[in-house]
Amino acid sequence: MTDGLRKGLASYGDAGFSLFLRKAFIKAMGYSDDALDRPIVGITNTYSDYNPCHGNVPDIIEAAKRGVMLSGAMPFAFPTISIHESFSHPTSMYLRNLMAMDTEEMIRAQPMDAVILIGGCDKTLPAQVMAALSADLPTVVIPVGPMVVGHHKGEVLGACTDCRRLWAKYRAGEIDESEIEAVSGRLAPSVGTCMVMGTASTMACVTEALGLSLPMSATIPAPHAERFRLAEASGRIAAALAKAKGPKPSQFLTKSSFRNAQVVMQAIGGSTNGLIHLTAMANRTVHKVDLDAFDKLGREVPVLVDLKPSGEHYMEHFHHAGGVPKLMKQLGDLIDLDAKTVEGKTLREIVASAEEVPGQDAIRDRKNPIKPEGSMAILHGNLAPRGAVIKQAAASERLLQHTGRAVVFESVEDMTLRVDDPDLDVKADDVLVLRNAGPKGAPGMPEAGYLPIPKKLARTGVKDMVRISDARMSGTAFGTIVLHITPESAVGGPLALVRNGDMIRLDVAKRSIELLVDQAELKKRHAVLKPAAAQDWARRGYGWLFNETILQADEGCDFDFMRGRGKG
Ligand code: FES
Repeated sequence: MTDGLRKGLASYGDAGFSLFLRKAFIKAMGYSDDALDRPIVGITNTYSDYNPCHGNVPDIIEAAKRGVMLSGAMPFAFPTISIHESFSHPTSMYLRNLMAMDTEEMIRAQPMDAVILIGGCDKTLPAQVMAALSADLPTVVIPVGPMVVGHHKGEVLGACTDCRRLWAKYRAGEIDESEIEAVSGRLAPSVGTCMVMGTASTMACVTEALGLSLPMSATIPAPHAERFRLAEASGRIAAALAKAKGPKPSQFLTKSSFRNAQVVMQAIGGSTNGLIHLTAMANRTVHKVDLDAFDKLGREVPVLVDLKPSGEHYMEHFHHAGGVPKLMKQLGDLIDLDAKTVEGKTLREIVASAEEVPGQDAIRDRKNPIKPEGSMAILHGNLAPRGAVIKQAAASERLLQHTGRAVVFESVEDMTLRVDDPDLDVKADDVLVLRNAGPKGAPGMPEAGYLPIPKKLARTGVKDMVRISDARMSGTAFGTIVLHITPESAVGGPLALVRNGDMIRLDVAKRSIELLVDQAELKKRHAVLKPAAAQDWARRGYGWLFNETILQADEGCDFDFMRGRGKG
């Protein structure tokens, strides 16, 4: 038998001795032979004092363990890397693939018959799911859940759409130092992930739509008792999977599962980061996310969930309105209801038991959408030969067709130094351009694509401008912002050729982003383009690996050698 504790023995050349040794050591924890003979469910522990989003992980682990044991299996929690958005230098995305490798290898290295992944803060769920899809062990995901909302002067507040909105007000001189201090204590009033439709919420909804987590798992607020009951139920399912040895993700995730996830991502007003992560996740399987097909879906799928930054509500309102099952019900024939979930149910069964909540207004029906088209559109053009993305649901309508003069920043540092310079030559209808902020350029493609409105314009009431870059942007941000320009400027993409004063045309209806400079001139500029200088961060260790093997945004920013499932 090669299950339970017998699985993946350390190699001492004598299997009997290897098992004897393993048992001898683990008995130091006080376990009985009865406990050690059970099927094993591994549980990731991403609790960290640096990660407030994961503050409820110890309680989720306890509840999940309870579920596993009530079903006659044995839980083993184990640590992996934990990544929090604002505690990860240079950016959390730089570490996502490291977390994916860590998680995959620990799932493979340690004996377990099923695994429970507990994560949530932006890059953690994608990293964990990428790992699980490659390891292809029976898997149940438990998102940590969103924070509850905060309140300030009679207003409902949430991280981090309102962080950005109120910080912009502070920059514009509309609120003072003491008020912004007070706000900082109210934006994140509980543990859990950002409670708007940022990347964390997007990926929790995507994971639920894929069927890798239980119904309502994306939306139950992090501190609510219901989340711990969900964790217990997830523990029971994981124990059943461990006993039955399946299904593995590869046995129930189909092309339709990934299509459903894309439909849900468009309909929730999902984060642009979600597209990179779902692409990377699909690339760990035999399936693919095709950017043009995703854009086509966006023309058919309306935004139905009324959540910030595209709408008004917060995750707890989405939850009380019926969550992802109710959303999928409203989406009707746009979802393939034959797709299966980890419980062995079809989405048809899940949708049939979606709660009807009279008078709720957080999940619209298709006749009355928040936006007639989906959250995101894919742009192409001479500036983005391999594509770029715009979250049109969170953009200003009047700027979706716009031509303006380029104001170029060479890097994130350059932008930080000059954007508020009173002498900066910038007008409200210009296009702010940021380059060298892509996967290799920055490195890790920081969320710098939300370029601040230059202070001198902000003070005159300018709230939005067209901004373009090869960077990413937080899903919680609002603005007419073109992101993920591919190929990035640091590898010689056309963004590197833009000069101050060039005209740039954005036309979202035509899905185009063009630099209005003739081809002969662009050729001349390309000929004198200097190759990027070697970076200190890329000389050794993880930085070297990252720099040598990171893929561009259209391929999910995974490492080139990590695609596919591996040996299992
Ligand atoms: Fe963790 Fe927003 S900072 S989800």
